[in-house]
Amino acid sequence: MIQITPMNEQNYKAVAAIEAECFSQPWSEKTFFEELSNPNAHTYLALDGGEPAGFLSVWEVCGEVSVNNIAVLGEHRCKGIAKALLQKMLCELAEADSVTLEVRKSNAAAIALYESFGFERVGERRNFYEKPTEDAILMTKIMNGET
Ligand SMILES: CC(C)(COP(=O)(O)OP(=O)(O)OC[C@H]1O[C@@H](n2cnc3c(N)ncnc32)[C@H](O)[C@@H]1OP(=O)(O)O)[C@@H](O)C(=O)NCCC(=O)NCCS
Repeated sequence: MIQITPMNEQNYKAVAAIEAECFSQPWSEKTFFEELSNPNAHTYLALDGGEPAGFLSVWEVCGEVSVNNIAVLGEHRCKGIAKALLQKMLCELAEADSVTLEVRKSNAAAIALYESFGFERVGERRNFYEKPTEDAILMTKIMNGET
């Protein structure tokens, strides 16, 4: 069973561990701890059968949501966990005007995920990523009070 829960003082290290496993330039444990006192931050942890399996981190400022990161551990992928994380966030922040994110140009899985939620490609950022260097696709979803 998949459960989505807010990140808190008990589970933020598990979120940082998923980040470290999935990204070449991860946010530190300390950064996730500091996010707990950031009023603009919303971070969700996904549990799969009680085990930490994925997370989603966004900031919401004046109705504009920006996605910092979403990741699911390899052994828990393709089970609808990223979809459940995005659904939870879009439901909780349904009053927002828009959601924006960057994604590596080669990241077909993530791009397909975002397109399935109605995100549209609105631009590119050249050499946005390091390790390895790669362009980013900029994607936006206009909310209109819907998920
Ligand atoms: C991208 C990622 C978060 C998807 O997580 P997931 O839990 O496996 O995704 P879900 O099972 O919820 O899949 C939801 C949708 O994403 C897309 N998708 C997911 N994995 C895919 C793959 N390997 N190939 C193509 N599309 C894929 C599909 O549209 C899928 O919908 P469908 O099952 O109805 O076809 C995961 O692969 C991951 O953590 N990757 C590494 C970190 C990363 O790249 N994060 C994104 C940073 S911008």
